[in-house]
Amino acid sequence: MAIDSKRVREAGTRHFGVEPDILTRAPGRVNLIGEHTDYNAGFVLPATVDFDVVMSARARDDNKLLLYSIDYDQSAETDYARLHEDRHFLWVKYVAGVADQLLRRGYALRGAEIAFSGDVPRGSGLSSSAAVEMAAVTAFCEMNHLDIAPVERVKIAQKAENEFVGVPCGIMDQFISGLGAADSALFIDCRSYDYRHVPLDLSDTKIVICDSQKKRSLAASAYAQRCKECAEGVRRLSELLGRPIEALREVEAGEFANVEDQIPSPIRERCRHVITENDRVLQAIDALELNKLEVFGELMNASHASLRDDYEVSCEELNTICEAGNQVEGELGSRMTGAGFGGCTVHLVKTDAVEDFRNALTRQYYAPRDLEPTIYVCASSPGAGLVDGVQAPA
Ligand code: GLA
Repeated sequence: MAIDSKRVREAGTRHFGVEPDILTRAPGRVNLIGEHTDYNAGFVLPATVDFDVVMSARARDDNKLLLYSIDYDQSAETDYARLHEDRHFLWVKYVAGVADQLLRRGYALRGAEIAFSGDVPRGSGLSSSAAVEMAAVTAFCEMNHLDIAPVERVKIAQKAENEFVGVPCGIMDQFISGLGAADSALFIDCRSYDYRHVPLDLSDTKIVICDSQKKRSLAASAYAQRCKECAEGVRRLSELLGRPIEALREVEAGEFANVEDQIPSPIRERCRHVITENDRVLQAIDALELNKLEVFGELMNASHASLRDDYEVSCEELNTICEAGNQVEGELGSRMTGAGFGGCTVHLVKTDAVEDFRNALTRQYYAPRDLEPTIYVCASSPGAGLVDGVQAPA
């Protein structure tokens, strides 16, 4: 795991015929708890994983953008004046979208030659796209000597995904890929954008990820639908509570319980998930800080139940994995992670139970479906940055 930056440098040099100026990288992520809360201005607690994207970049003296995907062995050429006109491969959009956002904000960009490769599993809900975007923001900032604050870079990447790629995601994935750190989870307040690293001691306990290998086919339409349902919940709760509310984040679990029977299904259940999930994130941070990992695990289980029953974004595959995980002695908690409808689950497992966990999941989930097990014991890695601290030439 983790991409060999030397290989990316060599592939970039071979493709463009010149050595790159810089190498950047950015990791994928796993969300530990706080699901579907980011676009409700709530709380999330993701961590980086040790899968990443490495990008080589060299500035040009024109306004051309030459891109090369090492993994797909595909190249693309465009320029800043016609970013929107070109019909791009999807992977091109993550980089072009970042350039587009920077240009819209008035930054002057030099042309660029960019090559990249990544080992974040694609389409599995581990944020391979956010990793490309954050590696790209870092590369453009470095090549053009742009002094853009870290949270601003994150917002640029999120907007690229929203407006250029056309995915209405929240801010969590780009935030953790940009600002995560090794050996810690990142608590993010998605309203104020305040954040805090929460140390993760993974000596006795491991974070294990299972890729269900179920493609997230329904995810896009259901995601947009959930966003609408939450907005409707905000409207109804403003009326019922008699005060203007802008986001579900502003509603306490207690006051919600007093009025929830006046809200029709499924809006009621959607609101209940978001409101209780925000509470679980805060409790999970306390548990982590007191090293009460059993409590953390129970909160993960409760989060999964809420996503399954109230938010209805889980699926048979994710539920089966979590149930099988729950039966393993030494497993502390299991939940789906990311948008849902497929993708991955995340589990907290005692280090000495990891082998049993792996065997149980292989037996109960992967083997009956004829799938090669994709179970990752993950280590966290640093957030986006330059590889080897090499700065672009002035
Ligand atoms: C996707 C989105 C995130 C977040 C999660 C659900 O990963 O990109 O912004 O909304 O789903 O928690």
